[in-house]
Amino acid sequence: MKKVLIPTLLAVTLLGCTNGQNGKLSNQEMSPENAGMPLKYLASQINLGIGAAVETGHLKDPQFRAKLISEFSQITPENEMKFQYVHPEKDRFDFSKGDELVAFALENNMVVKGHALVWHIQNPSWLEDGNWSKAELMAILENHIKTVVSHYRGKVTYWDVVNEAFDDNGGFRDTIWYRTIGEEYIELAFRWAHEADPDAVLFYNDYSTEGMTSKSNAVYRYIKTLIEKGVPVQGVGTQLHLTAENPVSDSSVARNIERLDDLGLRIHFTEVDVRVRDQDGAAGLDNQAKRYESLAKLAAYYPEVDLFTTWGLSDKYSWIPGWFEGYGRALMFDKNYQQKPAYKAVQRVLTDAVKGASTYKPVTDLSNAKRFIQPFNAKELTSDKFDSAKVVYYPFAFNQLNQKNQTLSPEQRTSIDGKWGVAYHKNKLIGQVIRKDDVTVTNNAQAHENDNVEIFVRLGDKFWQFRSIVGQDFEPIDFPGKATGKWNKDGSTFDFTVEFNDYQDLVGETFGFNIALADNDGAGRDTQLYPLTGNNIGWQGEEFGELFMNGQNAVVSSEPVSIPPAFKAIKLPTAIKSAEEMTTGGYQYPFAFNQLNQNDMTVKNGDDILGNWKVGYYDNWLYGVVNRVDDVTVTSREAPYENDNIEVFVQQGDKPMNQFRSVVGQDFEQTGYSGRYEAHWNKEGTQLFFAIELDSSIKSGESISWNIALADNDDGKQRKYQLYPVAGSNISYLGEELTKLIAE
Ligand code: XIL
Repeated sequence: MKKVLIPTLLAVTLLGCTNGQNGKLSNQEMSPENAGMPLKYLASQINLGIGAAVETGHLKDPQFRAKLISEFSQITPENEMKFQYVHPEKDRFDFSKGDELVAFALENNMVVKGHALVWHIQNPSWLEDGNWSKAELMAILENHIKTVVSHYRGKVTYWDVVNEAFDDNGGFRDTIWYRTIGEEYIELAFRWAHEADPDAVLFYNDYSTEGMTSKSNAVYRYIKTLIEKGVPVQGVGTQLHLTAENPVSDSSVARNIERLDDLGLRIHFTEVDVRVRDQDGAAGLDNQAKRYESLAKLAAYYPEVDLFTTWGLSDKYSWIPGWFEGYGRALMFDKNYQQKPAYKAVQRVLTDAVKGASTYKPVTDLSNAKRFIQPFNAKELTSDKFDSAKVVYYPFAFNQLNQKNQTLSPEQRTSIDGKWGVAYHKNKLIGQVIRKDDVTVTNNAQAHENDNVEIFVRLGDKFWQFRSIVGQDFEPIDFPGKATGKWNKDGSTFDFTVEFNDYQDLVGETFGFNIALADNDGAGRDTQLYPLTGNNIGWQGEEFGELFMNGQNAVVSSEPVSIPPAFKAIKLPTAIKSAEEMTTGGYQYPFAFNQLNQNDMTVKNGDDILGNWKVGYYDNWLYGVVNRVDDVTVTSREAPYENDNIEVFVQQGDKPMNQFRSVVGQDFEQTGYSGRYEAHWNKEGTQLFFAIELDSSIKSGESISWNIALADNDDGKQRKYQLYPVAGSNISYLGEELTKLIAE
């Protein structure tokens, strides 16, 4: 819903407004026509607060203080209300700095947002180093929250109660709170804060949650459950530490705002800054202005967004250069407090909004912009040394040498098997390949015909292919940086580094990426294994996946940098009723990624679970055949999903997503789905045939949102594997992280 401006109200408010320093503004100053109006006056006309993160030290700088008073209506303590500062010893609180900020705000008619009651960073060592039981830590947290919130009762309008509780995949972040108390710490924190000040407006705050990402989905879902339980949470803040190079996908942000609004929540832009690369000069500032402009438009458009806070005021004191090497200039005022293009852009947007002259309307139809699968994750390392405990291992799963059957038979799998993981430190990708091969061939004249590893990296329209034959370093190529590869003696482990000259720090970057493991056992290559399906044309710069450089406050783009190749369904000449009638051709794909284990998504060597799937279509029917090899089949669990089963996820066009589950040996469970659907197993439970009737006939070239999973439970207690053909976080049942199935 658009913000509405009430003209009479506007006049009244304008006449009544003061600039805090010189008393009332002149009529001239207050006219919306005056392009020089301070942001806070413009924003107040559309019920928007304009804020800045502040430290007591900054207030001693007269220029800082003057700008803060003239331009901003709200402050957030950048650090001085964090646990470490206000609660330095177990039995001692220190509110001196926080009080100074609050007093300043009250004197100058500014609203205060307290930040942050519960976080995993900037905690005192007495807290971090203590070996607390659950009851002890709960008591500590309750005491902390109640003491701090009561102290500021009536003075602090909003609180960031819980900060950054989710990781980038949408799981709970592994923190002292989560580990010791469990997820209920979140709910308890809100309840305790509310008890201490029932009038304070309570927020959940996080980064990479502005658009439709795995993480914002998790926040949305979780806050929804809290609201349903009656937990006093009134708003969601999204930090918005952005980069100038990457556009804001305003339709994605708009959609997220709208769904939060549907829950009755208020939305704050809480820590806005847009960092610019040092080498990017004036062009960087123009890009930055565009990002600020997009955010200002969204804030001006949606009434439920009622606070826009930048993380600092001037580039002079910003946290960015200290945290993101090679970046700076993230705010609207430069080091000398001069207005930057970003300031002018925000001012223009607000002026238009006040005049009612804006025609802006975000497009919320995202049907073409949906991220289909999770990118591969590269975690941040603290040094150049590869750390197997920190990376995520992914399988080499698809044999792209074979266009149709890309799976590995059990025999092939004993002949070649491998996994890989990539992390980063500063400007270096640091990766490892683990390989198990019965015969290693390295004496072929053609380099690519030898057993080797290939790494493909794409940045924008540039790409590079790095190849290393087993036992040897990468072949030299023209690359603006340095790449080195090192094998261990028996050729089972390959450690590599790719260092980029153009970057100081890779945090938050998303690269096009692929990696291949080639195997030759004699006559020629028999397999070239990738973590994605495709046509083995990475060397032509195509069919890349994505590698996302995860890290504190890194932003996952909601728009993929490259959409990985899709799976194909073969067109059948007639309707069919059994697996035997499925044509012998067709595309066969493996189940390979264990989405139940976010540290190692491969199937452990020796574990007997292996499967593949194939899909065809005729008219409005989808048909599938799944083959499965399993040493122990469990079907005795009460909860069907805990049994060995196959799940199929299908969504055609804008229709709802449907999930069909068949426990081994049984038909699909009944769902509310209106079309027909059936599943038949062979006696041994090694083959499933299924048919699903869709709403409308499937057209050649049509793309159906899709996923398929093979669940395995071996001990009758819990699932060991839930294997999918893609990486992800096991949330396809929510209609998320679907892949594409293209009708041939
Ligand atoms: C940052 C401060 O700006 C720095 O001065 C401090 O060293 C670390 O914390 N997300 C948050 C903020 O919620 O509290 C962080 O602030 C930035 C990221």
